[in-house]
Amino acid sequence: MTGAEDPPIEVAVVTGATGGMGRVIAATLAGRGMHVVTVARDPSRADELRARIALGPGSLEVIRADLATRAGVTAAAAAIAGRHEAVKILVNNAGAHYPEHRTSSDGLEMHVAVDYLAAYGLTVLLDRQLRRGRARVVNVASDTIRDTRRVKLFGAPRPATIDPADLADLTRVNAVDGFVPFEAYARAKLLTVTAGYDLARTFTAHGVTVNAVHPGIVATDIVDDLVPAAMRPISGLIRRFMLTPEQGAAAALRLAIDPALEGVTGRYYVRDIETATPSVSYDHNVQQRLRSAADRFLGIADPVDGPGSG
Ligand SMILES: NC(=O)c1ccc[n+]([C@@H]2O[C@H](COP(=O)([O-])OP(=O)(O)OC[C@H]3O[C@@H](n4cnc5c(N)ncnc54)[C@H](OP(=O)(O)O)[C@@H]3O)[C@@H](O)[C@H]2O)c1
Repeated sequence: MTGAEDPPIEVAVVTGATGGMGRVIAATLAGRGMHVVTVARDPSRADELRARIALGPGSLEVIRADLATRAGVTAAAAAIAGRHEAVKILVNNAGAHYPEHRTSSDGLEMHVAVDYLAAYGLTVLLDRQLRRGRARVVNVASDTIRDTRRVKLFGAPRPATIDPADLADLTRVNAVDGFVPFEAYARAKLLTVTAGYDLARTFTAHGVTVNAVHPGIVATDIVDDLVPAAMRPISGLIRRFMLTPEQGAAAALRLAIDPALEGVTGRYYVRDIETATPSVSYDHNVQQRLRSAADRFLGIADPVDGPGSG
């Protein structure tokens, strides 16, 4: 029971908390007494997390929604906004790698839907709650944006690319022609980083920070999709050389809660090292085109106000 004199319980939204790193991020924030909201396609997959959180000072709320669909993203945001005045932390952690070309029910390529639009959509649709909470937004990206080679033994790094012409319509991004799954995943993460730089500028006047992070190579379910087929028979062995979900989660948690990072915004980190991203991600024209395309797709008429607006 909360007494009248107690400070309000802080809310953290963590997507993908039914999986490897998200579960650790959510449990850690709840362990600090926060009320954690997650979005899950199958809420029963959050049972283990719920049991863990029930033992500590925090609490968990699970909203059923599929972040691969526009309706899922908007419904999840509406549910959160309807129940919570302010959000202190938003960790856009849900992500997936798809081994073949697939489209969402809205016609977006699935990496674009899950690894980009879900993160962008929740951030802009929770605009007011984030401002009230003077929130930290953390986008869990991937360093594949700086090098899309799966085996990095030979040749030079091959950064992910964005063709600005594709941004006329998000359904053009990651088209079936010339589709390469790992590149498509990396491009979607690059869209998230690119949009994050734009949002960071927009939100600065409101005390909201937006940063992105590569957590390292972490032994979670997603790596089963990411490991090249030829190496799958030894994926158990490979996992042993990877970071644990706890070690991976530490990178996003640092951005979410480390007091030393108060006010730091518009950065990309490889674990805890600030790192530059492909030049296209800093291009204001590209950022603007991306924002327009995404806002149109989401049906947002008046998204986050421009920089400096009240
Ligand atoms: N592991 C690595 O080495 C690595 C490296 C770089 C970046 N990352 C990024 O780290 C983040 C966390 O991934 P992880 O490694 O912890 O993988 P994971 O264990 O596979 O977790 C992924 C989470 O995303 C959720 N998710 C996927 N599609 C969804 C959808 N349509 N709607 C709602 N939730 C959805 C999953 O929910 P379900 O339970 O419903 O499947 C799961 O909770 C991802 O963004 C990933 O791209 C991972």
